[in-house]
Amino acid sequence: MREELMQIKDKALAGMAGADNMRALDDLRVSIFGKKGELTQILRGMGALSAEERPVMGQIANEVREELETALEARKNTLHKAEMAQAMASEHIDVTLPGRATSIGTKHPMTMIIEELCNIFMGMGYEIATGPDIETDYHNFQALNIPAHHPARDEQDTFYVEDGHVLRTQTSPVQIRKMEEGKLPIAIVAPGKVFRSDDIDATHSPVFHQMEGLVVDKGIHMGHLKGALTVFAQTLFGEDVKTRFRPHHFAFTEPSAEMDISCFGCGGDATRIKGCRLCKGEGWIELLGCGMVHPNVLRNCGIDPDEYSGFAFGMGLERIAMQRYNIDDMRLLFDNDIRFLKQF
Ligand code: DAH
Repeated sequence: MREELMQIKDKALAGMAGADNMRALDDLRVSIFGKKGELTQILRGMGALSAEERPVMGQIANEVREELETALEARKNTLHKAEMAQAMASEHIDVTLPGRATSIGTKHPMTMIIEELCNIFMGMGYEIATGPDIETDYHNFQALNIPAHHPARDEQDTFYVEDGHVLRTQTSPVQIRKMEEGKLPIAIVAPGKVFRSDDIDATHSPVFHQMEGLVVDKGIHMGHLKGALTVFAQTLFGEDVKTRFRPHHFAFTEPSAEMDISCFGCGGDATRIKGCRLCKGEGWIELLGCGMVHPNVLRNCGIDPDEYSGFAFGMGLERIAMQRYNIDDMRLLFDNDIRFLKQF
């Protein structure tokens, strides 16, 4: 057994000297001291020795173990230092190198216009509301006083989805959802995507954005509508802007109107700038649709039209962004060409 121990010791010491990395050294440690290690096996065999032999052998075995442990620790230190030195040499960082520039994106013009409009309305006390892109036929049409087979449906080429659902053709269903919540008074604007089966050209896209507005309270009348929307237009386009309201028809409002603003290109005097591109010589630019919420719509949402009244409005946001940023083709807003988007 003594010889065996000496053999193990010599072999282990030689092995340690030869181990040139931490991993090899650790493998060696396991092969000596591990559960099935050579030294461990010998120590286990100790029990079979006679009572006289046992202490003698035990002492030698302990000495061998201590010597090997010390040698192992020393080798470990040496290797660790060597590995550190190598890492320091090969992984050094040149802190004087110039940094790599990261390019920061810009806000999309549609995001900017939505934020701008929301800010204007929030300043007037409105809350921001949202609704789902996939709507029920009920919320998108029926509750808005547009029953099945109503001609108004033809004007909004609808994407029909399964089970009586549609991709919303307008943000007006958010009005319904808000009124259904049953909390009055209401003053909201609801920006979002809408979908119509249109072909893509310079002024049309199957996906575009609208912003809806709704105010419901006791005693709301057309004067509130005109006042609120005029303040909005003047905040957005400048204090000199004038508004005019032309009678129109929407199923969900009565009376209904379209609001025009005096052209900010020619100042409303189309004769001043010949062939003004913005208003095409009209002096006026159509901005939005609006009206007093139809009593049927209030009733559909459980609101008594004899007690409450309201006004609503809706506008296409691409057109406003195009006017605001002087963009002449709507497709530019959806192409996501970085050279275009960087300009804003
Ligand atoms: N939903 C209408 C559209 O898509 C826009 C609109 C007009 C909304 C009048 C309104 C409104 O709330 O009162 O053409």
